[in-house]
Formats: sequence, C-alpha cells, structure tokens
Amino acid sequence: MNMNELKIGHLIAKMPIIQGGMGIGISLSGLASAVANQGGIGVISAACIGFREPDLHSNFLEANIRALRKEIRKAKEMTKGILGVNIMVAMSNFADMVKTSIEEGIDIIFCGAGLPLNLPEFLTPSSQTKLVPIVSSARAAKLIAKKWMDKYQYLPDAIVVEGPLAGGHLGFQRNQIDDPEYSLEQIVKEVLASVRPLEEAHQKPIPVIAGGGVYSGEDIHRILSIGASGVQMATRFVATEECDAALDYKLAYVKAKEEDIGIIQSPVGMPGRAIANPFIHAMQEGKTKPKQCPYQCIKTCNYQDSPYCISLALMQAQRGMTEKGLLFVGQNAYKVQEITTVKQVFDSLRQEYDICTSLA
Ligand SMILES: Cc1cc2nc3c(=O)[nH]c(=O)nc-3n(C[C@H](O)[C@H](O)[C@H](O)COP(=O)(O)O)c2cc1C
Repeated sequence: MNMNELKIGHLIAKMPIIQGGMGIGISLSGLASAVANQGGIGVISAACIGFREPDLHSNFLEANIRALRKEIRKAKEMTKGILGVNIMVAMSNFADMVKTSIEEGIDIIFCGAGLPLNLPEFLTPSSQTKLVPIVSSARAAKLIAKKWMDKYQYLPDAIVVEGPLAGGHLGFQRNQIDDPEYSLEQIVKEVLASVRPLEEAHQKPIPVIAGGGVYSGEDIHRILSIGASGVQMATRFVATEECDAALDYKLAYVKAKEEDIGIIQSPVGMPGRAIANPFIHAMQEGKTKPKQCPYQCIKTCNYQDSPYCISLALMQAQRGMTEKGLLFVGQNAYKVQEITTVKQVFDSLRQEYDICTSLA
C-alpha cells in the first residue's frame, strides 16, 4: 500500500510529508524546492531570513522582507510543487513575514512558537494561502480554532502537532519532555479527538499532521495508522546536499552521538534541543553574555537577562562555525550516518514504509 496523498484545501501533496521549517537559514529555497520536487511540501523558514542582507543591522525589517521575497521567488523557480513558509509567532516581524508570504502567493503558512490567534486577519480576498498552526496540545488546537471561528469565521486548513522529540524550540515544560503522557502519539490522539467534531460541524476537513521524532518510514507508518494525515520531518532532511546550511553544520549531525543531544533553555523562554558543543558548555558555565541586542527580533527575549543572543548563535552555526554557534536538532539526529540527497531520503522512506505495509 502506498502512502496516501495529503490534501490541504485545494493543495494535494503526492507524499504526506512536510519538511519542517528550520531557522536560521537551514531551510531556505534549496531544501524547500527539493522536497517539493519529490512530492512533499517544502518549507522556507522566515526566522531572521535576512541574515545575508548587508543592511540587516541597520534595517532589520526591510532586510527580512526583501530576503523572504527573494527566497520564495527562487524556490518557485526551482519547483512547481507545494511550498510553505514557517513563521514563528514570537518574532517581532511576524506580521511583516505573514503579509509578504501572502503577497508572494505562498501556498501555505505554518505558524508555531506561540499561538497565531490573529493569523487569518492577514488574508486578502484574492489570496489562496492556506493557514496551518503548529501546536503541542489539544488545548492549543481548540483555542486557535475557536478564536479563528469566532473572529474570522475561518478554521485552520490543517494542524501540525509537534511532539517533545522535535528539534528547535519545544512547546513543553522541561519535565514534560520525557513524560509518556506527552508523547507524540498521545497528543495526536487528543488533537484528533478535538478536531473531529469541528470538521463535522463545519463540513471542512482539518488534516492533522504529526512531527517530532518522525525519522523512518516505519515511524511514518505508525503515525499514519493512528489517524494522522501526514508527518512533519526536519532532522532527517538536514544532512542532505540540498539543505541550505554549511557543510560543517551537516557534518555535525553526522558526527553527533545520542549522548551529545540535550535540552537547553532558550532566551525565547522555551526549552530547545541542541547538540552539545563548546558554545553550549560556555553558556552553561555562565561564560556567554550578549554584548548587545542587534535586532530586537523576538518579542519575548529580554536581552539583558539572556545568556546569549540566539539569533547570532544560530547564524554562526548555519555558516559552519559549529563550535561557536547553536545547533538545533531533533532527538533522532544521532541516527544520521551520512550526507545524502533529498531524493535518496524520499526513496528510503518509501521503502521503509512499504516493508511495514507488507508485514501488516
Ligand atoms: C535545526 C532546526 C531548526 C528549526 N527551526 C524551526 C523554526 O524556525 N520554526 C519552527 O516552527 N520549527 C523549527 N524547527 C522544528 C521543525 O520544523 C520540526 O517541526 C521538528 O524538528 C520535527 O521533528 P524532527 O526534527 O524530529 O523531524 C526546527 C528544527 C530543527 C532541527
């Protein structure tokens, strides 16, 4: 049995696989278009996307808008497939990034790291862009759906559920991360139960997509068999030729062992998962301190109390300074053995999935 296609409104992805947005600069047009070309949904991360613009320091808002336009246009030149933009609610330029994505006709906006309660406000009468919140609980899914319905008569076009094994920022308290009550499977079941009545009441399908620790075709099989319509995967796509990070960033994934992967507290105010390196050790020993706050990029970041500037740390890593920067990873990053291509990842996911269906 093949994996079913994933329908989000009028969009049909041949493969029910969304590549999770990865900031800063890890998933841009290169990775997103390669995933879209394989029939999945490729996602550009909007987080500080202007990091290569010469005027980022002096003109943060404009530099990011310009860079986002460029990346969306570049990606569209490289694929006819489905493309999304991931925009974090916690970013101070959230509204700019949403408006620009809609103006550029992006297929889908994915919004996490906060509750995107006003997202439908940015849709224009002619826009076709689909709106997909990323949540870590049924409570958040219900709250967003209720607010959107009450204020905008709009239901989410899909919902991504991100579990505690994900990379980047995690929507969990530290003590919930290893608690089986908060496992991805458990939360997916709860979100499905809260979404079904809405689908029936409003006669609109709301596919539920599960991410965080989904690494193999076998994982995809397990998640789809509990009722999810698709998966969101990020870590598995990092060590690919098409990924937009520097080679040394990808090699850090290849080298990482299970014991190197841990939880840190991010200045954003959420826990995050990262590879232990000299930068993390220095931060834990209290030896890092931001000298300044160059961008005021995160609404919730109080730089005077922060142990480091997360944007600068992520940019350093993206450029290949892997000892001096912050490398976000999913819990399964230690399984990455080599640098490959996006096509090879898809081929192997299909094979692994097919083995599971033949055994079922
Ligand atoms: C390097 C990295 C950067 C990430 N950056 C973001 C981000 O900017 N915004 C976001 O919503 N999620 C971010 N994530 C989370 C992913 O989009 C994805 O949902 C999650 O990592 C899925 O779990 P997996 O990595 O185990 O496949 C990031 C993940 C990684 C590994």
